[in-house]
Amino acid sequence: MTQKLALLGFGVVGQGLAEIILNKAESLRNETGFEAKVVAISDFIKGSIYHPEGLDIKTALKLVKETGKLDDYPESPGLIRGWDALTTIRESNADTILEATFTDVKTGQPAIDHCKAAFENGKNVVMSNKGPVALAYQELAQLAKENNVRWGFEGTVMSGTPALRMPLTCLAGNEVTEIRGILNGTTNYILTKMEEGLAYEDALAEAQSLGYAEADPTSDVEGYDARYKIVILSNTVMNAPLKVDDVDCKGITAITLEDIEKAKAEGKKWKLLARARKEGDRVIATIAPEMVEITDPLASITGATNAVTFDCDLAGPITLAGAGAGRIETGYSLLIDLINIHRGQI
Ligand code: HSE
Repeated sequence: MTQKLALLGFGVVGQGLAEIILNKAESLRNETGFEAKVVAISDFIKGSIYHPEGLDIKTALKLVKETGKLDDYPESPGLIRGWDALTTIRESNADTILEATFTDVKTGQPAIDHCKAAFENGKNVVMSNKGPVALAYQELAQLAKENNVRWGFEGTVMSGTPALRMPLTCLAGNEVTEIRGILNGTTNYILTKMEEGLAYEDALAEAQSLGYAEADPTSDVEGYDARYKIVILSNTVMNAPLKVDDVDCKGITAITLEDIEKAKAEGKKWKLLARARKEGDRVIATIAPEMVEITDPLASITGATNAVTFDCDLAGPITLAGAGAGRIETGYSLLIDLINIHRGQI
C-alpha cells in the first residue's frame, strides 16, 4: 500500500527525504515494495500545499530551490493552500507525518505538540528532531502505543547510521550493560584538528563553516547535544527512563593544546564521551571529555564521524561508526523508518 506522507518543514531534512523518494522510487518499489506519495508540505516560511491525490515533488523541490517558496505551485482541482502544521496533521489524509520543523531543543516544541496531535489523529510520525524524544520519550511512546500508530526517530542519534535500530534488532537478546560513544561530530572535529595543532577557536570556526555545528554551537561544545542523544539511547536501548537533567554534562571548552599534547605523550586521545552504564537497577549517564587508550576503537574515530560501542553480555563489545549528520544521511534515516513502518517492524 502506498504510504501517504505529510512533510512538516521543508528545509534541509525535508528536502533531503523528498529527493531520495523521488530519485529512488523505482528501486525502492522493486527491492522493498515501499511506495510513498507526498500529499502535503507545510512550511512556516515557504508556504503550504495539500492535495489528497499527491503533490508533484519534482515541481515543489524546483520551486523551493529557485524561489524559496511554494507560492507558484500550479493550481489544480482539489489543491488546498495555506494549512499550518496542526491543520495538516488533523485534516490531511496522510498516514505518516514527517516532522522536520525547526524545533526548540530546550522545550521540544512545537514538535511535541505535533507528535501528540498526529498520534491522537491515528497518524504515524517519523522524525530526526532530538527534542521530543529526549524530553518526552515515555509519554509520547505511550501515546503512540495507545493509538496503535508508529513513531520512528532513527535519525535523532547518528543520523542514518543505525545507532538505535542496530542494538534493538540485530543485538536483541543481549543485555546492553554500557553504551559509550562519540555522539557529536563538531566536538570530535575540533579535538581532531587540535591534535593537528589548530587552536580551539579556529577549529570551531572550521566546524561551523563546514555545517557540522548547531545554529548555536554552545549546544555542541558544552555537550548538550550529546546529552540529548545519550538520553535517547538510554531510554530506547536500555529501557531506562532517564531525563536530560539526570545526566552530568561537561563539554570540551576547557581542553587546551597542552592537554592534547599530554594525552599524545601518554599514547592516548581526548574524546568527548557520552556514557550510559547499568549499576544495579539504575542507569548512570554522563557526558565528559576523557583520555581514551589508543587501542580503544573510539580512539580511531576522527573528524566529524560518530561512533558508539555497545557492551553486550553475550556478543561482547560491538562498535558502530558512521556519519552523525548530513542532508542525505538524515534524509535516509527518515526513509529507513518509513520502510520499517511499511514492513510493520516499528
Ligand atoms: N551538531 C551536531 C553534531 C549535528 O555536530 O554532531 C548532528 O546532531
